[in-house]
Amino acid sequence: MKARVWIRLVSAIAVISICGCEKKDAAIKEPEAKPEAKEIRQMNANKESFGKTPDGKQVDLYTLTNTSGIRARITNFGAILVSLEVPDRDGNLADITLGFDKLDGYLGEHPYFGGIIGRYANRIGKARFTLDGVEYKLAANNDENHLHGGTKGFDKKVWKLEDIGVTSEGAMIKLSYISEDGEEGYPGNLACSVTYTLTKDDKLRISYEAETDKTTVVNLTNHSYYNLAGQGNGDILGHELMLNADKYTVVDEGLIPTGENRSVKNTPMDFATPMTIGSRIAQVKGGYDHNYVLNSGGGTLALAAKVYEPTSGRIMEIHTDQPGVQFYTGNFLDGSITGKAGKIYKKHYGFCLETQHFPDSPNKPDFPPVVLEPGQKYTTVTVHKFYTK
Ligand code: BGC
Repeated sequence: MKARVWIRLVSAIAVISICGCEKKDAAIKEPEAKPEAKEIRQMNANKESFGKTPDGKQVDLYTLTNTSGIRARITNFGAILVSLEVPDRDGNLADITLGFDKLDGYLGEHPYFGGIIGRYANRIGKARFTLDGVEYKLAANNDENHLHGGTKGFDKKVWKLEDIGVTSEGAMIKLSYISEDGEEGYPGNLACSVTYTLTKDDKLRISYEAETDKTTVVNLTNHSYYNLAGQGNGDILGHELMLNADKYTVVDEGLIPTGENRSVKNTPMDFATPMTIGSRIAQVKGGYDHNYVLNSGGGTLALAAKVYEPTSGRIMEIHTDQPGVQFYTGNFLDGSITGKAGKIYKKHYGFCLETQHFPDSPNKPDFPPVVLEPGQKYTTVTVHKFYTK
């Protein structure tokens, strides 16, 4: 009960701050909120129940709003970004991410809509790797390979609410999860957290932290599927994409990197200058599902991608400190999933830009390292910036 009061209070603080009143600290210290404030917070930035998992765990849905009306909804089930409403060039909001209205959808089979992927995002070849001479065997959940953390990755776990409220930057929520030693075959207890911040200047920042008590590997990302024309409103082939990458990691039949980083020049893989996603997709077997080697090299926040949707005017820039980004065009969506507002998700109805370390890095000594040692802190940040033209 106490926790709920705190959340409501924080929600009120969010609303107060959004209204431009600088009463943040006063509101934090106030034991009882005023009745009018209660009304506002219930209408605006409240915490709602999202249901329960089959084993009875409570799951909630949190809303972050900013003054432009951008609204991000996040659940502590899988730390999933459930929806992201963003204005078009006329100020009309649309939800630009694929997913489900209800928790039930996320509890069932689905291709990782909006989830935080861990302990290792993307594939690990033959579902195994060796650290300090010890071989670790993981679940082979993608033919013989390991994909997105295994059978029950971080996107299917109930995360703990650590913090919610408003900072000088905007509205934020921090969720945490402890992945136990041996979970899905990975070594070490990994304590991790993800913070979503919706800033006053229309950015959604996702920052991650992790610490381990045994040498392990970590690669965390968010797996949102975007359609800047609005989720369920047709395919994404008309979106214009720029990727700040001159190379991509060549893969084998099972989408495991061969170790070669090949130039995109004069190939359908080239998005160094903006091109519509659909212009050359027919020449790419199966559609795009490739890790691009970002020109920044990782380590500092830099522009990775820019996507423009001409009918709505929406633009999304992605800035990251990661060395790679998986560009995936929803090739396996086949119309069998009914998502939010009854929309049916067909092939290419969403695209993902998963900022990450390269696939199979634990088995590729030449790729940027993904090993985390006890005493070290894993931190990474990806920023989605929205505007229109
Ligand atoms: C992968 C795809 C996979 C999809 C899961 C993407 O990150 O690159 O190969 O099918 O996730 O839905």
